[in-house]
Amino acid sequence: MRLSASPECVEIQLGDRSYPILIGSDLLGEPNNFAAVTAAATALIVTNTTVAPLYAAALRRTLAGRFSAVHVLELPDGEAHKDWQTLNLIFDALLGHGCDRKTVLFALGGGVVGDMTGFAAASYMRGVPFVQVPTTLLAQVDSSVGGKTAINHPLGKNMIGAFYQPQLVLCDLATLATLPPRELSAGLAEVIKYGPIYDMRFLDWIESNIDALVAREPAALAYAVKRSCEIKAEVVGQDEREIGLRAILNFGHTFGHAIESGLGYGQWLHGEAVGCGMVLAAHLSQRLGGVDKAFVQRLTALIERAGLPVVAPALGAERYLELMRIDKKSEAGEIRFVVIDKPGSAVMRSAPDAMVREVLAQCCAA
Ligand code: NAD
Ligand code: GLY
Repeated sequence: MRLSASPECVEIQLGDRSYPILIGSDLLGEPNNFAAVTAAATALIVTNTTVAPLYAAALRRTLAGRFSAVHVLELPDGEAHKDWQTLNLIFDALLGHGCDRKTVLFALGGGVVGDMTGFAAASYMRGVPFVQVPTTLLAQVDSSVGGKTAINHPLGKNMIGAFYQPQLVLCDLATLATLPPRELSAGLAEVIKYGPIYDMRFLDWIESNIDALVAREPAALAYAVKRSCEIKAEVVGQDEREIGLRAILNFGHTFGHAIESGLGYGQWLHGEAVGCGMVLAAHLSQRLGGVDKAFVQRLTALIERAGLPVVAPALGAERYLELMRIDKKSEAGEIRFVVIDKPGSAVMRSAPDAMVREVLAQCCAA
């Protein structure tokens, strides 16, 4: 079954930085879908060596009607390349092609390409327009929306970046057909996240449809992407720069980022680390009194059914604590976790190191 080519639209309301998120199947080939993008002479499609052979030609053809020159830059693929050296390749291309400050950047790929292209757009000539064309489930439900851009540092994940909003997010669901199963599961972690922190009815729906989602049933994927984008747009619309509420979107991420950087970027996928991190954060929430054991078991079972790991790697409690202190939410060396204070609602809290050690002892591989 294919969905209609006419996209659904979720608006993210940020005053003069508002933009549409278009969601539908086979959107890449339709020039009208790019109507929200400012006119310019030049476009640069930033993608990677995996995504380029799949979708760069189609996007380039579509954009050729709107831009006199459309360049394509292929970055090396992978979280391990989300760094200064790779970011600099984007600046090399922009300067090498003589791109001016109206040049529009198109991020065609997953969250790695999206975060790096967004950061390049934020800083090239102090800011040029950019468009997110996410091609992973994770990027469609989370990273392409909300304007967080970043690269990693060997000492910490996403530590260098900027808030910078795109002009448009175009989620072409047809691109998910080529996604490896492990990457689909990684995206499901971020879909599941929205339930416990914000919308228990959505969690019920995900539970009922998890097999359809894993099987890539188009209507199920379309609803999951749309509802996730709606929730993210509501949260970011209230707190663009993470002064408060937006932090709830980091449920599972404090443990998850420690897993990612502790193992070495790219060993576990970001979504895998977040999925497992949510299991640990749920246990911590239980110890802090926000949820009961049945809730933790329910969430863990769903994460497992999504094809995600639920047992954390044995990095050692001290290493976990050390890594988690580098988290952006930490204040004066105190780790702050997003925990569930009641089903469907999350808050940020610190927890005694002893309690965190107990959670790690319970949830890590022997
Ligand atoms: P990714 O960008 O590494 O993509 C995953 C893999 O899938 C890559 O190998 C990629 O080349 C490949 N791929 C992409 N689209 C494909 C397609 N349609 N068919 C086949 N292969 C395809 O990883 P991701 O999970 O998309 O994103 C993770 C990144 O996103 C992390 O760096 C994380 O920090 C970041 N992130 C950012 C935010 C934010 O708000 N900015 C939110 C969540 C995650
Ligand atoms: N993925 C967390 C955020 O966008 O705030």
